[in-house]
Amino acid sequence: MSNQKVVLVTGASSGNGQATARLLSQAGYKVFGTSRDPSSAEPMPDLEMVALDVRDDDSVAACVKAVSDRVGHLDVLVNNAGYELAGALEEVSLDEAKAQFETNFFGVVRMVKAVLPLMRRQEGGQIINISSLAGLSPVPFMGIYSASKFALEGYTEALRLEVQPLNIHVSQIEAGFLKTPMPNHRQIATEQIGAYELWRRRALDAIRAYEEEGPGPELVAETVLRIVASSRPRLRYVIGQQAKRVSRLRRFLPEGVFQNGSRSTFRLDGRE
Ligand SMILES: NC(=O)c1ccc[n+]([C@@H]2O[C@H](COP(=O)([O-])OP(=O)(O)OC[C@H]3O[C@@H](n4cnc5c(N)ncnc54)[C@H](OP(=O)(O)O)[C@@H]3O)[C@@H](O)[C@H]2O)c1
Repeated sequence: MSNQKVVLVTGASSGNGQATARLLSQAGYKVFGTSRDPSSAEPMPDLEMVALDVRDDDSVAACVKAVSDRVGHLDVLVNNAGYELAGALEEVSLDEAKAQFETNFFGVVRMVKAVLPLMRRQEGGQIINISSLAGLSPVPFMGIYSASKFALEGYTEALRLEVQPLNIHVSQIEAGFLKTPMPNHRQIATEQIGAYELWRRRALDAIRAYEEEGPGPELVAETVLRIVASSRPRLRYVIGQQAKRVSRLRRFLPEGVFQNGSRSTFRLDGRE
């Protein structure tokens, strides 16, 4: 068995996960990436792709076993897999909302439960959850997505407290809107209610523009690399100018003033 650190990155076929897997692999880590369909993922040198659907217990168990059988240990888990569900909260069906949580929140819970026995046996490890600025400051017309990231924030903070005594380090990353293929994978609530039409369109247009102007997935990849290399990783890494500015404003501005700012950010204030 080599001393090379082993990293498992979920959702490495696209965007942040792909950039992270590539950068860590280039930096000399032994990286396993995942996709629900590894055969269709773009091949990357020195990167092994493993099948994984984070919604499925058996798939999660098989993925972690495949890595463990192959190299005998796992040093770092990067929980990155996720997607966005868009639509007014009234438009989103309960099934659509549950499906969003099944991937973005319970997918992480499943992965963490699957790797912790391994990390406890090794007497150490690291878990990095890719949260979002939407987990600190909700995005209108992506309310269930935001709620799944808010849930992840609370979960990650509690997990860090519980497993730190076992020498397992837990961190999370909050980025603002990024330019990744995520909008192409976005799901839209099936039901559409006329009263929300104008506001939904305005908010989603604004989001689209922020994504187009946003930094690329390298920002997340570089942060993961920094966290993995750190001897004392922090709980929270708020990255990019937008996320830093908004999280600071949220902490210091009165609630009403902050909400007015959000209304204007997402063009819900009636102004052209
Ligand atoms: N883009 C942004 O603006 C932004 C900002 C902040 C945070 N984030 C977070 O960053 C993470 C990645 O986003 P991205 O922008 O890179 O999106 P992306 O380009 O759409 O990539 C999403 C990845 O998740 C995987 N995935 C989706 N459902 C899955 C499932 N059920 N099981 C396993 N894997 C699944 C996909 O893999 P397969 O389809 O191959 O299975 C894909 O590799 C997400 O957690 C997102 O919330 C994104």
